[in-house]
Amino acid sequence: MASKKAYLQDKLPNFARLLNLESVKKAQILTVMSAFAQLEELIAEIETAQPQTEEAIEQFRMRFLGSNNVIKPLMGEIRNVPNEQKKDFGQLINKAKTAAEEKFAALAEVLAVAAEKSQLGNLDLSAPGEPVDLGSRHPVALTMNRIVKIFERIGFVVAEEREIEDDWHNFTAMNTPEDHPARDMQDTYYLKDTTKYVLRSQTSSVQARVMTTQKPPIRIIAPGRVYRNETVSARSHCQFHQVEGLYIDKGVSFADMKQTLYYFAREMYGPDTKIRLRPSFFPFTEPSAEMDVSCFICHGEGCRICKHSGWVEILGCGMVDPQVLINCGIDPEVYSGYAFGMGIERQAMMRYTITDIRLMFENDTRFLKQFASVI
Ligand code: DAH
Repeated sequence: MASKKAYLQDKLPNFARLLNLESVKKAQILTVMSAFAQLEELIAEIETAQPQTEEAIEQFRMRFLGSNNVIKPLMGEIRNVPNEQKKDFGQLINKAKTAAEEKFAALAEVLAVAAEKSQLGNLDLSAPGEPVDLGSRHPVALTMNRIVKIFERIGFVVAEEREIEDDWHNFTAMNTPEDHPARDMQDTYYLKDTTKYVLRSQTSSVQARVMTTQKPPIRIIAPGRVYRNETVSARSHCQFHQVEGLYIDKGVSFADMKQTLYYFAREMYGPDTKIRLRPSFFPFTEPSAEMDVSCFICHGEGCRICKHSGWVEILGCGMVDPQVLINCGIDPEVYSGYAFGMGIERQAMMRYTITDIRLMFENDTRFLKQFASVI
């Protein structure tokens, strides 16, 4: 780097001319000359700097690029620079700035590479691995899968459908027209600004979806989430899960339904399980029934789970109402069928002695982890 003195000597002839001008003060010229010299010095410093450590690089950044960098005060000098020299001065300022930016970018890159290298160098192959926190299946999923598998073994095919359903599939097609009192029992959530779409209140809506798009024979099992406008408590929730079953073919009888459900009950609750069908009402089945299984906790002797009756209600079922078949475009003179629907949460709660349904939807891993060993 040329020394300050040599530099001034070198530049002096240029300034000598200006020194003769009346309007320009000598002192001002000298400051300007010194500003030129300082810039040249800074540029030389930037170009030769070789900071090695992270700290030294940070110091470099602060000195040349920080908010109080050393180039900044020199920029102010431009107003003292005579017009003939302004361009040179400006270029020199830019040169200094660019040099600092480029140098810093290069230094930062070197630093990043070094950091990566040193990390690899520190790699301890004998260190124990990060613990992998294994999730566990949810008790609802466990119970639902178990039910679905039992029906799959006898030829039922899984049908999954939308949770946002239109009024027709959820209610009307299922023989529950707008003025039907059964709608009150399944009060659900209507989508804002419409009476057309609801969060489905029952998986029975899948029956209508399948019957309007497939031709018999139909044999489906439909698991999924449903919603109802219920006050949340330990025993009921505004969201829960159901599994729906539907079988439509020529000559399907009530006896077929009973035998199938009996098979299910024994597979689900053990070979000694008994079933009982009680007459009931559902708008979409005729005749309709509710099915109880002999209590799988006390085997009929009477306990808290079965409220000392020896029986536990698990599902609703019946022969598909001919009107439902007509609604969905299936000829009831040719085809008949049965349907059934059951809630999952209550069965899961009984199976795993869970006393509060809200636990199912809180995602508390302390609760969920208790089911890690269930298969
Ligand atoms: N959808 C009924 C409910 O949510 C359950 C049900 C009853 C479904 C009888 C059926 C059935 O398919 O045949 O309460």
